[in-house]
Amino acid sequence: MTQDALKVAAAERALTFVEPGMRLGLGTGSTTAKFVDALGRKVAAGLDVLCVATSEATQMQAEKLGIPMSTLDETPFLDLTVDGADELDGELRLIKGGGGALLREKIVATASGRMIVIADASKKVDTLGAFPLPLEVVTFGLTATRNMISALAADVGCEGEIKVRMQADGSPFRTDSGNLILDCHFGQIEDPEELDEALKLVPGVIENGLFIGIADLAIIAAPDGVLLIGAEDDDLL
Ligand code: A5P
Repeated sequence: MTQDALKVAAAERALTFVEPGMRLGLGTGSTTAKFVDALGRKVAAGLDVLCVATSEATQMQAEKLGIPMSTLDETPFLDLTVDGADELDGELRLIKGGGGALLREKIVATASGRMIVIADASKKVDTLGAFPLPLEVVTFGLTATRNMISALAADVGCEGEIKVRMQADGSPFRTDSGNLILDCHFGQIEDPEELDEALKLVPGVIENGLFIGIADLAIIAAPDGVLLIGAEDDDLL
């Protein structure tokens, strides 16, 4: 089974949690794109949903498929968000932001009653951090911001290179909100909660890519089947 087929399997399982009349948050990335494709087919067949996108890319994809779209200002509470992840652990802690959409993704997910994460099995890890942790930061004071991140992260045992994300043309990557991304190569994040708290103390950091206590269910597709990991207090399972 290809990685693409695994993404489709996770996306299609997530669709079974969608009910008519739901207000949905649509994540960003290649796995979510499979979900949006599948949702588009259901909408074409008559499913009634209203969606909010976490990025311009997802917005465009959904509009092309004829999925009814709203904004978070018009629809500030959503029933369910379905999104991908760059890494997830057994406690449903995630690293997100590989596509640079972490800020809008976190806003949309926390405005939702539930969040389902969809991923192929390569995303499941014992310890977060092999994937560089993305931070969305303001341009002003970048060097001071980076120094403070470095110092506070070291205090909680996280050290490594912190790089401004660049594009192929050599210019800095800009998020949909016009900010920069710093990718933190920590290798291992032994205490994600502590790191999350530390990063919240840095004024130039708008948001970090650790999603803790946000996801309710992970749908992980492996060649031998689909695994569901649910939060203990969740009744989705
Ligand atoms: C976007 O910023 C990310 O948070 C994505 O959800 C994450 O990178 C997963 O993307 P893929 O499904 O493409 O791996």
